[in-house]
Amino acid sequence: MEIQLWRNILCPYELAVKELILKFEHLIIEHKENDLYSPIEQVTGRVKSVSSILEKIHRKNIPMEKLEQEVEDIAGIRIICQFEEDIDAVASMIQKRSDMEIKSEKNYLKHIKQSGYRSYHLIIYYTVETVHGPKKLQVEIQIRTLAMNFWATIEHSLQYKYKGDMPPHVTERLAKAADAIVSLDREMSSVRSEIMDAQISSQIQSNLVADILNNIENLYKVSNQREVMKIQDEFLRVFQTKDIRQLERFHRQLDIIAEGYRAQSVSSKL
Ligand code: GTP
Ligand code: MG
Repeated sequence: MEIQLWRNILCPYELAVKELILKFEHLIIEHKENDLYSPIEQVTGRVKSVSSILEKIHRKNIPMEKLEQEVEDIAGIRIICQFEEDIDAVASMIQKRSDMEIKSEKNYLKHIKQSGYRSYHLIIYYTVETVHGPKKLQVEIQIRTLAMNFWATIEHSLQYKYKGDMPPHVTERLAKAADAIVSLDREMSSVRSEIMDAQISSQIQSNLVADILNNIENLYKVSNQREVMKIQDEFLRVFQTKDIRQLERFHRQLDIIAEGYRAQSVSSKL
């Protein structure tokens, strides 16, 4: 196959990876803006390199004409979560979407691989619009925790280093490390609700502060500037108390003041 043909094959997969990263990243933003805990921590993606595709079709004896059908991971998305519980939440979010159709799943959390690998995999169908019209593609989505990802990344590098011929003492070390990762995820899950509360409070605070500053800025345009300076000083004082209730109260008061100015400006225009 010519180089140009590879470009033609891979181009729609590049679009799919870009679109999916954008969509999952936007979900993180949407959760945060709504003061909700986001089960997604990070998203990455890649299109498989030509050399990895060639290696895979050779290893699995896949004929060239069945390439797109049988190599399910030409497009790959990796979703990283903080806690093991988040993995299910992400999977069910994907299941409910109208733009992604689940073809199959592999649960390496329930069925840990011999190597110690843990992760939850989905193969989905996803349609992109190309110059030749819509094209339905397969995409592999790997969902795992930060800790699982740490282990898989290290193990992958070692696999690459030893090219399938890993010395037993390294395999053993990795198996022990995998056990440690299982306990780490378990420990983290036991403090999950506490960590989630802390993260949500910090998000609420940052949304509140952004809202207040926005209000102050708008007031600055329409009202007495000395008065706005006073409001700003008061805001800084309240902010330094680190008391979210006071911040909320201040936010409400500011809303009332802003509302007053809006009413004034409407009546002056009448
Ligand atoms: P590949 O040909 O490697 O893609 O495997 P597969 O098509 O039989 O599917 P499988 O579910 O075994 O693996 C899919 C992907 O999961 C791999 O491409 C890796 O990214 C990841 N993976 C699977 N097993 C391991 C493992 O033991 N260690 C690491 N680090 N990653 C793994
Ligand atoms: Mg793969």
